[in-house]
Amino acid sequence: MYHGVSLVQTKHGRMYRMKFSNEVTLYLAGFIALIGIITSIYLATIVKNQRIETAILQQNQNLSLQQLAQKDGELAAASTTISELHGELVAIKEDLEELADDYKDEQNRNEAFENQIRDLAGTLGDLDKLAKTDEELLAKYSKVYFLNENYIPTRLSQISEKYVLPGKKDQYFHAEVIGHLKDLLDAASKAKMDLKIVSAYRSFDEQVDIKGQFSQVYGTGANTFSADQGYSEHQLGTTVDLTTPEIGGAYNSFATTKEYQWLLDNAYRYGFILSYPEGNTFYIFEPWHWRFVGIDLARYLDRSGKDFYELDQRKINEYLLNFFE
Ligand code: DAL
Ligand code: ZN
Repeated sequence: MYHGVSLVQTKHGRMYRMKFSNEVTLYLAGFIALIGIITSIYLATIVKNQRIETAILQQNQNLSLQQLAQKDGELAAASTTISELHGELVAIKEDLEELADDYKDEQNRNEAFENQIRDLAGTLGDLDKLAKTDEELLAKYSKVYFLNENYIPTRLSQISEKYVLPGKKDQYFHAEVIGHLKDLLDAASKAKMDLKIVSAYRSFDEQVDIKGQFSQVYGTGANTFSADQGYSEHQLGTTVDLTTPEIGGAYNSFATTKEYQWLLDNAYRYGFILSYPEGNTFYIFEPWHWRFVGIDLARYLDRSGKDFYELDQRKINEYLLNFFE
């Protein structure tokens, strides 16, 4: 600093300036060198730190890689286990499906067996029913089939007098179907129809008597309205001759009554049919003569507009099974 003042005032100012300038340069150089050293140290430190960090990172990376490799191994092992388990599951599933199939087969076999048993039971039931249903009950008796003198219905019931025309008491009907006869006559009564029974069950011997009486009066003409013994539907116990008290007997004029019309319209509902309609080939038209053939068959005849005696006997016999129902 002191030299700075003398730099201006001395004659050797130039010399001093040069000296001063060298010193400054020296200082600057020193300073720069110092900064350089400091910077170098600093940079070296940074580099060193970076190296350390890099090394640490490298170490961490290695560690991570190691762990990754380990996890990879574990994953591979787990994959193997999963794949094995999957294989086992598939095998178990297949076993289960096989079991289910076996179970289904067994079930089908059981169902088939049950159906067979049911069919068999049904068949046995039907056979039992048929065994109890006398084939004669639906046979065509008028000059076609013959009932011998020993044929009598399995069981007969006396018909209540309220259904019978006065003077014609002690009438009998097949016990198994007398309910249908009552249903018919009760329904008629409900509809204000005054229907009465003239004749019902007739034994072989009774038919001998009645035919004999008619033959005495009408000769061979009796054959047109009276069956020979063994050929009468009355011997079955399922046939009735109906009339009104006004008509008073089995006469043609019954055909003009509202009761006859009611029978034409309704008797089939109770299983009864007109055996000898107009134009039949066996006897004269007998509007009074009604036979029980079972509700199913009577309905079929009504629906088809056919007459009982027109049907084939085999077709008729299909209705034997449900005769009593
Ligand atoms: N009147 C009928 C045909 C009978 O005697 O059975
Ligand atoms: Zn009759």
